[in-house]
Amino acid sequence: MKVYFNGQYLELDEVRISPFDRGFQYADGVYEVMRTYYEKLFHARDHFARLKESLKAIRIKYNEVDELEDIIYKLIELNSYSNSETSAYIQITRGEFYPRKHSFPPENVKPTVFVAVTPISGDTRTLGKGIKVILEEDIRWSRCNIKSISLLPSVLANQHAVDEGAEEAIWVRDGILYEGSHTNFWGVKDEKIFTAPLSNYILPGVSRKVLIEVCRSGGIEVKEEVIKESELKTFQEFFITGTNTEVKPIIQINDWKLGDGKPGIITKKIHSLLLHYIDSKQW
Ligand SMILES: Cc1ncc(COP(=O)(O)O)c(C=O)c1O
Repeated sequence: MKVYFNGQYLELDEVRISPFDRGFQYADGVYEVMRTYYEKLFHARDHFARLKESLKAIRIKYNEVDELEDIIYKLIELNSYSNSETSAYIQITRGEFYPRKHSFPPENVKPTVFVAVTPISGDTRTLGKGIKVILEEDIRWSRCNIKSISLLPSVLANQHAVDEGAEEAIWVRDGILYEGSHTNFWGVKDEKIFTAPLSNYILPGVSRKVLIEVCRSGGIEVKEEVIKESELKTFQEFFITGTNTEVKPIIQINDWKLGDGKPGIITKKIHSLLLHYIDSKQW
């Protein structure tokens, strides 16, 4: 597999990253994940804007974000993935510096940049039968709006979900369900959909942004309001969203089995509105 690493297209096993890279030692970096539909990057501008925001937030100077789009298409071509949909992973760390010290390295140290693309085998057209999620106390820091590579709490939470026979863990902070370990979280109440407002407690998901627009133009009312654990039973449906997750209906939260155990009507409607939007190619 060909990947991009610090200005070069290399075979994956040719990539050499120093043990003194700040990503390896401090998780000092950010990342981005995007995907294609119809072989075109979906909402690329939103992903690159978020990457720029993340870089700015942690003060990594990397001025070549706008070149990453061409790099991804080049990787798709080099790997002959042109006939399948792909997911792209970008990681930028503060670079390599020896000796190890917490404060930033000198200005001349260049960020380490890695990009890989992977074919997607999943089927976007079917919604799936629904998933179980668990609730997990949010032990993350309070800058969850930065797409940081420091993901240990999310790794542990998602593994806990898997151990419990679930697919996702939903973070609960001060009695509020903010988002999933790697997804945004939504509830449906009386045909209106709810998702946490943008803040430092959630990642501004691109799928979240797209879905809000798609729902509003499809006549579904969206409320960017928090969902409280104490009010969970007043909601009829729940689902999660993410770039690779797309829309996944939730049919069980901890031991609570929702409704008839099948994806809800509104969730199905939202999924079909999203498919329609993807098929329109107007993005
Ligand atoms: C914590 C978290 N929230 C939400 C999302 C969904 O974001 P997006 O829709 O941009 O993939 C992700 C994606 O990785 C995430 O890690």
